[in-house]
Amino acid sequence: MRLNQTSSDSVTLRQNAPAKINLGLHVIRRRADGYHDLETVFLRIGWADTVTVAPADTLRFSCSDPALPADDSNLCVRAARLLAGHAGIPARASIHLEKWVPYGAGLGGGSSDAATTLVLLDTLWQLGLDAATVHKLAARLGSDVPFFLGPAAAYGTGRGERLTPLMDAADAPYRCPFTIVVVKPNVAVGTADAYRWIVPKETERPDLRALVAGNDLGRWRRELVNDFEEPVFERFPELRTVREGLLGDGAGYAAMSGSGSAVFGVFDSSERAHQSASRWTQAGYACWTGSADGAARQPL
Ligand code: C5P
Repeated sequence: MRLNQTSSDSVTLRQNAPAKINLGLHVIRRRADGYHDLETVFLRIGWADTVTVAPADTLRFSCSDPALPADDSNLCVRAARLLAGHAGIPARASIHLEKWVPYGAGLGGGSSDAATTLVLLDTLWQLGLDAATVHKLAARLGSDVPFFLGPAAAYGTGRGERLTPLMDAADAPYRCPFTIVVVKPNVAVGTADAYRWIVPKETERPDLRALVAGNDLGRWRRELVNDFEEPVFERFPELRTVREGLLGDGAGYAAMSGSGSAVFGVFDSSERAHQSASRWTQAGYACWTGSADGAARQPL
């Protein structure tokens, strides 16, 4: 978090809100509350929005992207109101969102913005909430929101809000050693729709944690499955073409993220990844490449 104190009563707090991809996503069963139990590995990537908060007399929200709703439906605004309501204080802050991560993409951009807003306003309003309380508030904002409060790679269950850090074979926090290319086709997939298209499946599932932590791209390609892919690819064949294109570019593994529409390739050569990203950018796609933990390289 960056803190710019320009005078005693003017504090600006700024923090990146990184996106995620899913390495495998199993939709296990539909629940009585309408949600689905799933299991997935979430991995944070360096493609990020930036959230800035500052003191104000009322709640104000602005965004670099005029297409994004700036009313009470916006997840940053909802996060601010939820936090203020919990703390029993008026929601007074000005929030600015610099939007870089595409939405309707399965990259968790809005969820990450919401998580970041909670963390920044907890500091700005000097609430000092404990991590469990912030996690609970985050889960009320959306199933993916809690992930953005924790480690860079996590195994998610429940509706995605139950998280354990992903560890490697030596029991150290998992680090993805590959270069990732994310391509966003100009298609928006509604998450609730995508869940409706799926037939949940409980059995014959590989152990996602061991599979990811093994870092064997050949095995990832054979065994790592995102259940959303088939029903979404059926309706939006362009996404399958993008996945095949990334594999053709030399990705050892490629898949759709979450319920789409972003598709990512995982490369063991950063040079090939960069070449691939340049190609997709030249073809008119929104595209990002970089390592999982930051070190982003935006193709020209
Ligand atoms: O939790 P979130 O607001 O992101 O979920 C959006 C919609 O996606 C839910 O209303 C629900 O229809 C669906 N969903 C689901 N099971 C999950 C997560 C989301 O059915 N685990």
